[in-house]
Amino acid sequence: MHVKFIISALSVLLSGTTALSESNLTTHVDVLTLDHAFNPVKAAYWTGYPHHRRTPFAVSPNGKSAYIAYLDSTETDVHVQQLDPTTFKATGTSVTITGGQEAGGLVAHNDGFAVLVNEAMPSGTTNAPPDNTPVAVIYRYTNGNETWKTWLGGPNVHAADGLSASPDMNGDLVYSLKSETYGAYFVVTDYSGDASGHYGDSIQYVNTSGDVVDIDGASSSWGCSHNTGIAFKETVKAPFASICAEDQGAIWLNTKTQGMTNDGVKISNENTTNGASGEPMGGMSGSYSALDRFYNSTRFIFAWVSRGAIDVTENTWMGDGYTNVKNRTNGRNVAIALFSDKYTLVGDQATSTVGEEDGDSQVNWITDGSNDCSNAHVAVFDGESALVTWEEISDPTCDFIAMGCRGEFAGSFFQEVNSKGVKVGEAVKSTDVYVAGDMVTMGDGRICWPYVSMEWDLSQAVGYGSSTDTYKKMSIACMAV
Ligand SMILES: *[C@@H]1O[C@H](CO)[C@@H](O)[C@H](O)[C@H]1NC(C)=O
Ligand SMILES: *[C@@H]1O[C@H](CO)[C@@H](O)[C@H](O)[C@H]1NC(C)=O
Ligand SMILES: *[C@@H]1O[C@H](CO)[C@@H](O)[C@H](O)[C@H]1NC(C)=O
Ligand SMILES: *[C@@H]1O[C@H](CO)[C@@H](O)[C@H](O)[C@H]1NC(C)=O
Ligand SMILES: *[C@@H]1O[C@H](CO)[C@@H](O)[C@H](O)[C@H]1NC(C)=O
Ligand SMILES: *[C@@H]1O[C@H](CO)[C@@H](O)[C@H](O)[C@H]1NC(C)=O
Repeated sequence: MHVKFIISALSVLLSGTTALSESNLTTHVDVLTLDHAFNPVKAAYWTGYPHHRRTPFAVSPNGKSAYIAYLDSTETDVHVQQLDPTTFKATGTSVTITGGQEAGGLVAHNDGFAVLVNEAMPSGTTNAPPDNTPVAVIYRYTNGNETWKTWLGGPNVHAADGLSASPDMNGDLVYSLKSETYGAYFVVTDYSGDASGHYGDSIQYVNTSGDVVDIDGASSSWGCSHNTGIAFKETVKAPFASICAEDQGAIWLNTKTQGMTNDGVKISNENTTNGASGEPMGGMSGSYSALDRFYNSTRFIFAWVSRGAIDVTENTWMGDGYTNVKNRTNGRNVAIALFSDKYTLVGDQATSTVGEEDGDSQVNWITDGSNDCSNAHVAVFDGESALVTWEEISDPTCDFIAMGCRGEFAGSFFQEVNSKGVKVGEAVKSTDVYVAGDMVTMGDGRICWPYVSMEWDLSQAVGYGSSTDTYKKMSIACMAV
């Protein structure tokens, strides 16, 4: 106890900042009134365990407008509500993206917004996906009116490589002010060509006129197989910084490759089973605020959850240089990695040496308990420090290998880390604040995010007695240093 106190006091002195405390977490409960009802719970792939349904949140470059996107409780139509970035109260009337089936990313502009959703193509579209399977699409609204709508899959996008649909909208939309380019990284399934019937991912760039632009060494029609986790952050120029979790055993920094080949940077070895790798970036509805860049710096921070890795064996399917691992633990812990620029990991890559016992010796762990950690996210405060957050289940039951767990919700945690990846103080705990949408760094240095004020039950699959309530209020929480 004594030693621990001295060490944390010392780390405070060394970092020059005081640690976060509960007083730094402020909440604005039910502050935002929605025009339409919203169901905040989404069943996860394979397990059906509850995930927060993502509500993308974004603030404009001039800091004067903010938007939140949410799926109507009928599960069709995505609504985009403008809010005041100071009071967080709704302003204006909401815009409805008719037919949208999930909100997958939101960019706020000074004059409006762009939102990534998936929706079925109009009936009669030649070479549309079968069975009205939805396709990723970006909508741009300027001063309240639709200015363009751009499909990122379907018949006219990378037709020579095979055509893509997006039954689930897992991914993210970002925008580079410097190069005036949108980037979207999202999960696809192909319905023609070599990858027909298979799941993978796609990276598409769109210019401010709403045209898909094919950028050599950046655009990708097919990258990581059965990707269940995406992290994406805009940079000055394409390729934007990107990370994928694939179904063969690794998490890759794939800014250079856009794929899962081992000329990318192997961040982590993960046990993979049935196309999953432990929902490292949140699984269904999770691929946001996992990668951020420190201000005025080329340095990035990435957060994920992992069961660790032991027993490195050759991945005979992928061949020489690729590996499989077993998981070290039952529950998942939180890890972070730093990059000195969008191509370069700080420290060692995850091992690819067959026969090694430890497959995770490079990992910088943020937690080390036997609780199961999930829903990890990160955002920077400034050039020096970042906020890492996650949820815990105590005494978890993990019925399915490489998936999520169930059990008693033990709280959300908020840990400050510095730009060297060192923890500053202890994590702040909350049992009634969750992270359910993008963590945005506000002009005043606070980090704010949306959530729904509700009981959070992680003990059983959705539909087995868990809440199916819908809500017409959104809450915002902020952390300040
Ligand atoms: C954050 O908490 C520290 C104490 O740990 C306090 O000194 C500081 O004023 C708080 N900052 C804000 C913005 O509440
Ligand atoms: C938006 O559309 C409405 C009618 O649909 C029109 O009256 C208005 O001028 C448009 N606004 C802009 C900024 O184009
Ligand atoms: C966007 O790309 C299209 C097609 O290449 C081009 O015609 C258009 O001028 C571009 N718009 C901008 C703003 O660069
Ligand atoms: C994943 O770990 C399980 C043990 O939890 C093991 O049986 C399985 O073979 C591992 N998967 C791979 C691809 O090695
Ligand atoms: C980033 O650099 C600009 C210009 O030098 C400065 O005004 C700004 O305060 C810096 N921001 C941070 C968070 O350090
Ligand atoms: C590996 O993870 C699974 C759940 O994914 C769990 O059942 C198993 O006990 C774990 N193995 C070890 C060694 O903890």
